[in-house]
Amino acid sequence: MDELDTLVDAARDGFARSASPAELENAKARFLGKAGRITELMKGLASLPTGEKKARGAAINQAKQAIEAALSERRQALAAAQLEAQLAAEAIDVSLPGRQRGLGGLHPISLAWERIEQIFGSMGFDVADGPEIESDWFSFTALNNPPNHPARSMQDTFYVDMKGEDGQFLNLRPHTSPMQIRYATAHARRHADALARGETSDIRVIAPGRTYRVDNDATHSPMFHQVEGLWLGENVSFKDLKVTYLNFCKAFFETDDLVLRFRPSYFPFTEPSAEIDVRFQSGPLAGKWLEVSGSGQVHPQVVRNMGLDPERFIGFAFGSGIDRLAMLRYGVSDLRLFFEGDIRFLSQFR
Ligand code: PHE
Repeated sequence: MDELDTLVDAARDGFARSASPAELENAKARFLGKAGRITELMKGLASLPTGEKKARGAAINQAKQAIEAALSERRQALAAAQLEAQLAAEAIDVSLPGRQRGLGGLHPISLAWERIEQIFGSMGFDVADGPEIESDWFSFTALNNPPNHPARSMQDTFYVDMKGEDGQFLNLRPHTSPMQIRYATAHARRHADALARGETSDIRVIAPGRTYRVDNDATHSPMFHQVEGLWLGENVSFKDLKVTYLNFCKAFFETDDLVLRFRPSYFPFTEPSAEIDVRFQSGPLAGKWLEVSGSGQVHPQVVRNMGLDPERFIGFAFGSGIDRLAMLRYGVSDLRLFFEGDIRFLSQFR
């Protein structure tokens, strides 16, 4: 092999072994630089006889061009490899889930609450709201449950270390029944006037809200939710209670396949009184009687305390546990799950 071919091979080999642009520049200097092999050969031309110079010069030039071509090829290859490596290092994995803002949703108690308002609203019930810190009068006395009456111990009430206008300690309302008195009293005049004019007039309201008792287990929490219902008019009977509550349950649970049972009970503010139990005829809860509400015909003394004539205004009231209704509707077995704020539980209701 000719000496120049060997040189070109050596250059190709040197370039191929250069792993970085800097190494490649060093290799280039060895062959094409001022002190490089090609330059040396060119200098050597001077000492050749004139007749040989031309052919030898052309051969060296050819070798030089071959080396330059190999150099530029290797330069491009190294640049491409560097780009490739950089792209791989900086790559964005488009398959990673993005950082999103969490999609909010209503709490299951709020869902049940809104549903209750919507259903009773469709049956002509007004929706009322009232204080959670109550006076003794509204929580008990006006509801025919006077001081020292044994029925007061039906609820383990939270008392506030402050007295109300009636000189009695304020309480965290243990039920929504005070709203019966508040709402009816506020509207009593209008209804009495309407009756006096010979018009029909009735009080039809629900009052959902927070309630408090000294209670804490899988089915009771110190803070819970009730919805009070009140329907008073000239001819409102227990039959209306049954129909109203049955229709409510069918709408709330989205099934006609249920029956109600009115189980005799006692509340100072209703007479007669009944617990309302529901039984599903199909589905996961089928077959069991499940208590959902207290109820009864409003006691005449309570109607009087509302400022109404019990001879003209008769009707029913009920007080249902919203949490209980939500547990049954959503199949939740422990009431405390509603109040722990665990996102894994709550996000199931989105
Ligand atoms: N207030 C009663 C309770 O909390 C429920 C009830 C309301 C009963 C209205 C009768 C009428 O247990």
